[in-house]
Amino acid sequence: MQKIVIAIDGFSGCGKSSTAKALAKILGYTYIDSGAMYRAATLHFLNHKVNLENKEDVASSLETLKISFEFNPETGKQETFLNGQNVENEIRSLRVSDHVSEVSKIKEVREELVSQQQDLGKNKGVVMDGRDIGTVVFPDAELKVFMTADLTIRAKRRLKELQEKGQQVTLDEIVRNLAERDEMDSTRKESPLLMAKDAVELDTSHLEFDDQVNQIVSFAKDRIVLY
Ligand code: DC
Repeated sequence: MQKIVIAIDGFSGCGKSSTAKALAKILGYTYIDSGAMYRAATLHFLNHKVNLENKEDVASSLETLKISFEFNPETGKQETFLNGQNVENEIRSLRVSDHVSEVSKIKEVREELVSQQQDLGKNKGVVMDGRDIGTVVFPDAELKVFMTADLTIRAKRRLKELQEKGQQVTLDEIVRNLAERDEMDSTRKESPLLMAKDAVELDTSHLEFDDQVNQIVSFAKDRIVLY
């Protein structure tokens, strides 16, 4: 059967990644978390105390940045590696979340990561989630979904996720972080978060998880028949 590219974009904390993962599993596709790549780049810059204002520092640090993904059969999850080290938990910390929008504004960072993302999806059969997947990374994706949800609902979901991982955070901190990231992601000069003209919008505020996944699976099946 013909494989397609599925691009899932939207605001922070809308459930894009859990939805995209479930969708990939159902379709037998590869899931790629592009946000994890921006987070890993952010951790790399923080670890090396890179001055983000200095283009040369950023460019030379990018040369030593190697991001990869590996499936962990024990957890049944795909994990992110930075220069060979498993950073899956560290990249989800508030320390990284607080700096990631600043890093993802940098043109050179985006150029490098977009090219890696295009390479990862060149054989199709991928579900990639992010902010610019349907607009920049795969403008010809056969299915584009733009996910939205109410800010407080998103923050409560994220709080539960972080608490389950044993991280100490408050709802207020998360609301602040999500609101700041929405603002920065939507207003930045380089590839701002925009809904692609040909994307399907999905508001998940009042949807059960399985319903939102099934909804996208049915969009995907329609597209797979067409292509
Ligand atoms: O999906 P996430 O919340 O883990 O993404 C982390 C940050 O990375 C987010 O604040 C914006 C940025 N990002 C981006 O600019 N472009 C992408 N394709 C994915 C993420």
